[in-house]
Amino acid sequence: MIRFDIISIFPEIFDSYFKVSLIDKAQKKKLIKVKIHDLRKWATDKHHIIDDRPYGGGIGMVMKLEPIYKAVNEIKKLKKTTKRKRKIILFTPRGKSYHQKTAYNISKLDHVIMICGRYEGIDERVAKYIADVELSIGDYVLMGGELAAMVVVESTARLIPGILGKPQLLGERTTKDKGFIEYLQYTRPEVFKPRPNRSSKARGVKNWRVPKILLSGDHKKIAEWRAERRKIINK
Ligand code: ADE
Repeated sequence: MIRFDIISIFPEIFDSYFKVSLIDKAQKKKLIKVKIHDLRKWATDKHHIIDDRPYGGGIGMVMKLEPIYKAVNEIKKLKKTTKRKRKIILFTPRGKSYHQKTAYNISKLDHVIMICGRYEGIDERVAKYIADVELSIGDYVLMGGELAAMVVVESTARLIPGILGKPQLLGERTTKDKGFIEYLQYTRPEVFKPRPNRSSKARGVKNWRVPKILLSGDHKKIAEWRAERRKIINK
């Protein structure tokens, strides 16, 4: 069972998300464990201060090293595993880009510890001495790593057999990089008649139809068609 530990100064951010999603079901089925930790718990002073002024001057505050150091050391002990099967991730926009391949690699681990810094500043020694890897979920700047942590848990967890309600596509589970996008899907109605002029993208198309091949009942042809479309999508 893979264990995710998330360290944050805004632990409430995760409440509803992890409660209502498949992640909750997966936890009940003991397929994964997700635990959110309030970083302030490891701040020793009576006000639970986790940031301080930057050395050398400048605006804003910097997240302190010691609470994160203590948190990570304590959390490491929560799961018995090897160094190879554990990763300590720091979220930052300058980090390595997060891809499906990264999700795949993470899904093979035993223990994932995630540090959500507030982006404005985190003592550089966290990246240098504590984190195994810095990850970015995209080329934009968020206010902190909390959304990134949710992205990583969700995209990783769904690769673990038994978590989704359907069998995984062979290609998806085994493909380490590209080729993870499913084929095109349709459901009823077979023909949809949009109201005229409501959709500029479909101007002039009166009937939005499901491709005929899918209605043919010829499973071999359907499989071929899907494989072909999949190739096109994943190019
Ligand atoms: N923190 C701030 N921006 C981020 C990003 N794009 N990815 C991961 N963590 C972040």
